[in-house]
Amino acid sequence: MAKRAKFQTPTGMHDILPEDQSYFRRIYEVVEKIADFYSFGKIDTPILEQAELFSKGIGLDTDIVQKEMFTFRTKGGDILSLRPEGTAPVVRAYLEKGMLNLPQPVKLWYFGPFFRYEKPQAGRFRQFWQFGLEALGDPSPVVDAQIIQIFYNILSDLKLKNLLVEINTIGDSQCRPYYKKLLKSYLHSRERSLCADCRRRYKTNPLRILDCKQEKCQRIMSQAPQMVDHLCDNCHQHFKETLEFLDEAEIPYYLNPYLVRGLDYYTKTVFEIVEQSPDGEKLGSLVGGGRYDNLAKILGNKNVFAMGGAAGIERIVAAMKEQKITSHQSPAPKIFLAQIGKLAKRKSLKLFEEFRKANISITESFGRDSLRAQMAKANKQGVNYGLILGQKETLEGTIIIRDMNTGKQKIVKLDRVVAEMKKMLGGSN
Ligand code: HAM
Repeated sequence: MAKRAKFQTPTGMHDILPEDQSYFRRIYEVVEKIADFYSFGKIDTPILEQAELFSKGIGLDTDIVQKEMFTFRTKGGDILSLRPEGTAPVVRAYLEKGMLNLPQPVKLWYFGPFFRYEKPQAGRFRQFWQFGLEALGDPSPVVDAQIIQIFYNILSDLKLKNLLVEINTIGDSQCRPYYKKLLKSYLHSRERSLCADCRRRYKTNPLRILDCKQEKCQRIMSQAPQMVDHLCDNCHQHFKETLEFLDEAEIPYYLNPYLVRGLDYYTKTVFEIVEQSPDGEKLGSLVGGGRYDNLAKILGNKNVFAMGGAAGIERIVAAMKEQKITSHQSPAPKIFLAQIGKLAKRKSLKLFEEFRKANISITESFGRDSLRAQMAKANKQGVNYGLILGQKETLEGTIIIRDMNTGKQKIVKLDRVVAEMKKMLGGSN
């Protein structure tokens, strides 16, 4: 067994190696194209923000704020956190940069790393990547449907199958307090049968008991009153219209009354897109989001209607691999440049550059000296042509072109080789 390396990635964090970069690139390209089409502008916010942005924005009683933030004090005494999510930073930027004065809605998207001190397990990391889309400044339910549609389109364009859109509404400050009371009175006599986490949630945030994964809590909640039956008129109408727009857009969805999401800033619509196994078992959530009409009020005392979502990139990559969806790699080079002798090696460096300028991909092994070793590498890489620059050729200003399949060789002038290869490759480079 290989000896353990002295230094390793921190727990729950991972390198993104070249073989996965092509998936990340493919996802980035699809998101960028769709975001452009729907007129979302790209935003990059800092990796670090004031810790209070998240404790206030996401909510003190959430798992993220209670257990999962990487927070530290700087030398200057500021308390900063590695960002655990992107919505609060986007709202911070919107308020700070006066985007309220722009034509609304302001539509923004992002793609980058996020950090949560979670217990690492399959699909759950301490550093993970998300892309997100946020539309700020529009109360209309059509925005809710459009955000869901965009995420669905992105996953479909990536050729993912077995997707399930789950949707629910959690009301607003008009109707939710009443519903919470109802829920609490339902739970009052059942509190002792809940799991330890839910007994705590009973006091701090009873809504979260709805999505507890423990069987005994689920059994209790299956009889509990549901938010959809206790919405105020405004929330009821909003939800109804959101679903009508989704019907119109032909996005299949499933009403999940137990979906509440783990961040406190949501109002009205909440949604997730989950991957299912072919026999309908839920595998994991690829996308999560919802409306957050109160977040700008909490962070900057401004009324800004907003809706958005974010997707976990590692989870999408895993789903693509599982569903045998390949990412497109850059085409493999078709030419190998081999050199023999010091002088030839010197000339090879310059020749290699000429191929780059002509936009012809080519590979080499300048560190190897023997022709045999270089040709073995060329064969391994599966190139069509080998260019061999030996001592004699260098002195004569020529180079050998070898067809790697037939073994046939011809000699051409060195200053003609780029043009010659272009001709031989035709449009196939
Ligand atoms: P979230 O549900 O916490 O929402 O995260 C969104 C997605 O990020 C999840 O569905 C999952 O795919 C991925 N994700 C979350 N945590 C991890 C982790 N530890 N490891 C790997 N992947 C993970 C938000 O972050 C909200 N900001 C979404 C939003 C945007 N709501 C409105 N606008």
